[in-house]
Amino acid sequence: MVGTNEELSEEQIERFVGLFLQSVKDGTWKSQGWPEIWTDYAVSKLALNAYTMVLAKRYEGEGISVNSYCPGFTQTSMTQGQGSHTADEAAGVGARLLLLHPQQLPTAKFYIGLDPFVKSNL
Ligand SMILES: NC(=O)c1ccc[n+]([C@@H]2O[C@H](COP(=O)([O-])OP(=O)(O)OC[C@H]3O[C@@H](n4cnc5c(N)ncnc54)[C@H](OP(=O)(O)O)[C@@H]3O)[C@@H](O)[C@H]2O)c1
Repeated sequence: MVGTNEELSEEQIERFVGLFLQSVKDGTWKSQGWPEIWTDYAVSKLALNAYTMVLAKRYEGEGISVNSYCPGFTQTSMTQGQGSHTADEAAGVGARLLLLHPQQLPTAKFYIGLDPFVKSNL
């Protein structure tokens, strides 16, 4: 993995993603044990969640919450219009999160789903 929460840094995330990109260029990603399903997507989401943790830690105690959010299967270009709900509905959840009172909005969490959305620690 990238490292423990305390050690995590932007440089480590960049190095980790760089290793993946290099292994793709070399054609060695399979033998090196990267995820076999949704490989690039999984690596990009790992980097996103790790970066969320870096930012959450950086702004801890400054009244800035940093979280990441997955809307679930949404009708967009990426899914060629398929999905269980519209992009507007998914964006509505993001807006609801943004409008929460600061004391109700924790930091370094991963939110998933629509109604109700649930959260877990990153
Ligand atoms: N749709 C789902 O079911 C679903 C589920 C879970 C998570 N997500 C996540 O939600 C996010 C948005 O997905 P989406 O479904 O809305 O996808 P989308 O309809 O394909 O939209 C992707 C957007 O990202 C922009 N983009 C792509 N590469 C970029 C780059 N290098 N720099 C700046 N902008 C870039 C695109 O801009 P252009 O239009 O100009 O190319 C487009 O506006 C993604 O991270 C996706 O993994 C989606």
